[in-house]
Amino acid sequence: MIEYRNLRVALLGAGSVGAQVASLLLAHGEELAIRAGAGLELVGVAVRDVDAKRSADIPHELFTTDAESLILGADIFIELMGGLEPARTLILQALNSGADVITGNKALLATHGQELFEAAEQVGAQLYYEAAVAGAIPIIRPLRDSLAGDRIKRILGIVNGTTNFILDRMDTVGESLEEALATATKLGYAEKSDPSADTEGYDAAQKTAILASLAFHTTVPLEAVHREGITGVTLDQIEAARKAGYVVKLLAICERLTDADGVEGLSARVYPALVSRDHPLAAVHVAKNAVFIEAEAAGDLMFYGAGAGGIETASAVLGDLVSAARRHVIGGPGVAESTHANLPILPMSLVRTRYQISLSVVDEPGVLAAIATLFSEQGVSVETLNQSVLSTNDDGAPSATLVIGTHEASEAHLAATVIALGESHVVSRVTSVLRVEGS
Ligand code: NDP
Ligand code: HSE
Repeated sequence: MIEYRNLRVALLGAGSVGAQVASLLLAHGEELAIRAGAGLELVGVAVRDVDAKRSADIPHELFTTDAESLILGADIFIELMGGLEPARTLILQALNSGADVITGNKALLATHGQELFEAAEQVGAQLYYEAAVAGAIPIIRPLRDSLAGDRIKRILGIVNGTTNFILDRMDTVGESLEEALATATKLGYAEKSDPSADTEGYDAAQKTAILASLAFHTTVPLEAVHREGITGVTLDQIEAARKAGYVVKLLAICERLTDADGVEGLSARVYPALVSRDHPLAAVHVAKNAVFIEAEAAGDLMFYGAGAGGIETASAVLGDLVSAARRHVIGGPGVAESTHANLPILPMSLVRTRYQISLSVVDEPGVLAAIATLFSEQGVSVETLNQSVLSTNDDGAPSATLVIGTHEASEAHLAATVIALGESHVVSRVTSVLRVEGS
């Protein structure tokens, strides 16, 4: 029997994820000890209510409401309570007392990540956060380690399960956004306290800030992530997308860009976009997550799986625990966050992509020519044009729906085009503007 050095593990939170982490650690502790080369002793679990019913069997004597005392003397501190405070203060306390820290708290990392990474570096401790983006899917370690020798060109991610579930239900079952959100809430996917964290893209934006920082070796603050949610997406748009061979997905996009002067920078953004049904991301259904990476040398890679769920996310946390324990055994300085590139974050106006624009127009001679002229005046090139069923507008005049697909154009030119369309006498209404990504 090998005698291992014992490491003291303190856990904060025994909710959906924390309870599963405690349970798996208690059940598989011996096996994890062999992999880590150190015993992993769960010394306590801090919660608000020690008598609350838990989703897993955890010995009652492990529970405490005194998180601060639990941290003292811990070798490894796992934070799974969520929110900004007191999580931030407790993590700083743990780092300053020499513990390595593991967290799944994307909100905290996207908001105070730089402060926490600097605090860790100062004391030679490590901050692990595999669970913070896309739950069970290994994506932090691949970006940080496996792809450290490559250059990432672009990441397209489905990193929010709730919105993917809603858009998928709208596409496959024809539910309205409200009906699909109610189903997502019933199934426990949507954020309990405030579903707008999911539907308005805040959760995805936090994960985008984390991914972009790692991929481009640059600190990307949350405020620099352009964010649009899915609450404006209609069933009409989803149906039109299906007919045109697309699916609507809420995408987290991190991209290397060059400005007009040839200066390299990056863009980090979240919005609903059309994805071709041939693209691997189109096959990501229900609440699953996937991250599609385009790298210079490695080419295209896709990471797919459960983006949330207690036991699934606990897998990522325990992977971090084994890594942290190995470092304690081997010793030496940890890996600091890599921010050497320090790329400028370029404005949305410089982003170039394709667009699909739907218009309700008056059906009379010269209308198509007028619209084509308007696009060309703004420097936006039309790629496809479809005219669908003729009907009458509110004034009883014949009207038609035009769906125009553009070649790649800048956001600035597209925005000017949409304004000009809205002001044109031949256009009754601009009914939809969606970006096309992933081609
Ligand atoms: P829950 O809300 O289910 O659990 C939170 C836990 O923290 C509870 O046990 C609660 O105690 C405890 N807690 C909250 N506030 C305090 C406090 N002030 N002092 C002591 N304990 C406190 O959260 P989740 O497990 O869902 O999420 C945990 C973290 O993991 C979050 O950062 C989340 O973003 C992240 N995450 C979650 C995923 C998921 O699928 N759920 C997926 C990926 C990441 P009590 O039970 O007594 O109220
Ligand atoms: N509400 C989040 C989601 C949970 O739907 O993906 C995981 O971060």
